[in-house]
Amino acid sequence: MENILDFVHLMIHRHLDPASIAIDATMGNGHDTLMLSKHADEVFAFDVQKSALEATRQRLETHGRNNVRLIQDSHANMYVYVAGGVSVIVFNFGYLPGGDKTLTTTKAASLDAVKQSLELLKEGGLLALTFYPGHEEGAKEAALIEPYLATLDPHHFSVLNYRFINRRNSPYSIFVKKH
Ligand SMILES: C[S@@+](CC[C@H](N)C(=O)[O-])C[C@H]1O[C@@H](n2cnc3c(N)ncnc32)[C@H](O)[C@@H]1O
Repeated sequence: MENILDFVHLMIHRHLDPASIAIDATMGNGHDTLMLSKHADEVFAFDVQKSALEATRQRLETHGRNNVRLIQDSHANMYVYVAGGVSVIVFNFGYLPGGDKTLTTTKAASLDAVKQSLELLKEGGLLALTFYPGHEEGAKEAALIEPYLATLDPHHFSVLNYRFINRRNSPYSIFVKKH
């Protein structure tokens, strides 16, 4: 059985081809941004922290990737930068590993950005969300966003929860596929 992040990557790879547009809504240290840049034509990556952009710029340079637009802004403004037709959008909620734990994603901006993501996805596109309910804001985010996703019309979206139900408070992922 795949661990959470391996499964996320597996799902993402299946939804990308060399002509795809992808969004990393929570850039952080740029691991997901780099992975997306290797499998898509163009990537938009968002973070509110300058240090995230610096770390990611460095990572992309090291790997010779030049197809990413690094944007220092909230993912709640993604509609300003991206017109639509997106194949994959990734959110990895929480705080920058090794950084300031108070600069975490927040439930209101996250929900707003998730709603925009559903608009920006093309038909057949995938939204991949990883939640960390083991910390306070992460639990609130999950408690707000998961019930919202459960209300999506099954004619337009398939929503899958990938979660180890015998591991209390462990991270889990929700995937939304647009039909
Ligand atoms: C768990 S980290 C992401 C880790 C990242 N996927 C990686 O590969 O390193 C979450 C990131 O979301 C960022 N963040 C917090 N609020 C945000 C917002 N409103 N818009 C965009 N990014 C935000 C944080 O600064 C942090 O870097």
